[in-house]
Amino acid sequence: MEMRGNYHGLEKKDFGENFLWGVSVAAAQNEGAFNHGGRALSIWDVFSNKKGKIRGGAKPHVACDFYHRYKDDLLLVKALGFSVFRFSISWSRILPDGTGKPNKEGLEFYHRIIEECHKLGLVPFITLYHWDLPAILEKEGGWTSHLMLKWFNRYVTLCAEEYGPMVKNWIILNEPFGFTSLGYMLGKHAPGKTGLKNFLPAIHNATLAQADGARIIRKMVAHARIGTTFSCSEIIPFSNKKEDLDAAQRVDILLNRLFIEPALGMGYPREDFKFLEKLELFNKSWKYTRRMEFNFDFIGLQNYFPVVIKYNPLIPLLQASEVKAKSRGVPHTDMGWEINPGSFQRILNRFWAYEGVKEIIVTENGAAYKDMMVNGEINDENRIQYFKEYLLALLRAKLEGVNITGYFAWTLMDNFEWAEGFKARFGLIHVDMKTQLRTIKNSGHWFRELLQAK
Ligand code: FCB
Repeated sequence: MEMRGNYHGLEKKDFGENFLWGVSVAAAQNEGAFNHGGRALSIWDVFSNKKGKIRGGAKPHVACDFYHRYKDDLLLVKALGFSVFRFSISWSRILPDGTGKPNKEGLEFYHRIIEECHKLGLVPFITLYHWDLPAILEKEGGWTSHLMLKWFNRYVTLCAEEYGPMVKNWIILNEPFGFTSLGYMLGKHAPGKTGLKNFLPAIHNATLAQADGARIIRKMVAHARIGTTFSCSEIIPFSNKKEDLDAAQRVDILLNRLFIEPALGMGYPREDFKFLEKLELFNKSWKYTRRMEFNFDFIGLQNYFPVVIKYNPLIPLLQASEVKAKSRGVPHTDMGWEINPGSFQRILNRFWAYEGVKEIIVTENGAAYKDMMVNGEINDENRIQYFKEYLLALLRAKLEGVNITGYFAWTLMDNFEWAEGFKARFGLIHVDMKTQLRTIKNSGHWFRELLQAK
C-alpha cells in the first residue's frame, strides 16, 4: 500500500507521551437493537417516527448494530491505533422505566463493552447522557421537569455502582446547549419541543444535573476523573457595525458561555440581554449558584466550525442570525460547516483562559463528506486534510500553553446523525447501512499511520 505519510509538522510524538488519542461514539447513533434485551424506547425512537423530522425518514432502530457487533468494532478502534474509546450509556437500556428497577441484560451489555476495552488495552470513557432520554420520562416533562434531577440521580447512581469499579473516566453530559436548544427550543431534535417555556427550565435542569451528577460520581467512584462536554464555536461578527457586534455578543453568550460559567461557579452570564433576565427569573437561578458549580477535573471541548453573526431584528430576543459559510464562499464540509482551524485554535485558548479550567480534552471534532467508494476504496482526502489542519491547530494551542491532554475524533464509523439521518457521514470507517459491511476509509488508514509511529 502506498505510504500516505505524515504531514510535515504533524507527528504523534509532538503531542506528548501521555496524550490521549480516542474515538467518540454515542449509544443512540450506533447501537441499534432498539427493542432487544429489554430496552425501552428513547425520545429518538419516538421522534424518528414523526413525519418529516429526520432526513430520508431514517430511524435509529438498527443504526450500525453496534449492540451485536461491538467486539469487531472495538477491534477496529484498536486496529486504527486509538487508545481511548468514548461511548455513552443508553438510559432506556439499563432503566427501561426511566427509574426504578434496572434491566440486568442492559447492564451486562456495558459490562461486556468495558471488559472488551480492557482486554484490548483501550481506556473506556463513559458519557452518561448523550441525548437519548427514556421516552417514558419525556411523557412526564423530560428536561423541562424539575423531577429530572431525581431521575438523573437514580440513573447516575446506578451507573456508578455498576461501572465505577472498572471505569475511571466519566463525562456527565454531552453538549447541554445542543440538546436543550435543538430539542426544547427549536424542535429540530428529539423530543421536538419549542419555545422559551420549554427551553428555560431545560437549561436550568441540565445545568443542575451536570453538577449533581458529577458530585455523585465523585462520591461513589474512587479516583474518578470527571468531565463534562461543551459545544463551542468562535463567534465572528459579520461587520464592525455596533449592531453586528452586539448581535455576535448575544450569540456568544448562548453558544459558548451559558453552560460553562455556572459550572465554574460564576452563575449564568449577567449581561444586559432580555433572554438572561428571563432565564434568571423563570428559574430563580440566583438561589442555585453553588449547586450549579462543580470542580471538574477536565472539560471536554467539542468544536467543528466558527459562526458568523449579523444583526437581524426579525428574530425574537436574540435579534441575530447566522451568515452561512456557503453564502460567504468559504471552505466548508458537506454539513455546510466552515473549515477554519485557526478558529479552533482561538477557541481552545479562550476556554483555557477561564480560571477554573484545569485541563481540556477535545472530546469531539471531525467532518462529514459525501464519500465515494471506488473499487472498494474510499479516498477521503478532504477529511484527512480536515484532521491534519485541526490537529496542527491543536498542537499550536498546546505550544501556546493550553493544557490539552487528548483528542477524540468524531467518529469511529458512519452512524445515525440525528436529524440528518444516515446522510451525513462522519466516520473513519464507512458503513453500508443495508449490509452493515465496514470499510476503513483512507482517513482511518491515515490515523493508523499517524498513531502507530513512535
Ligand atoms: C455533536 C454531537 C455528536 C455528533 C456530532 C457531529 O454535536 O455531540 O453526537 O452528532 O455533533
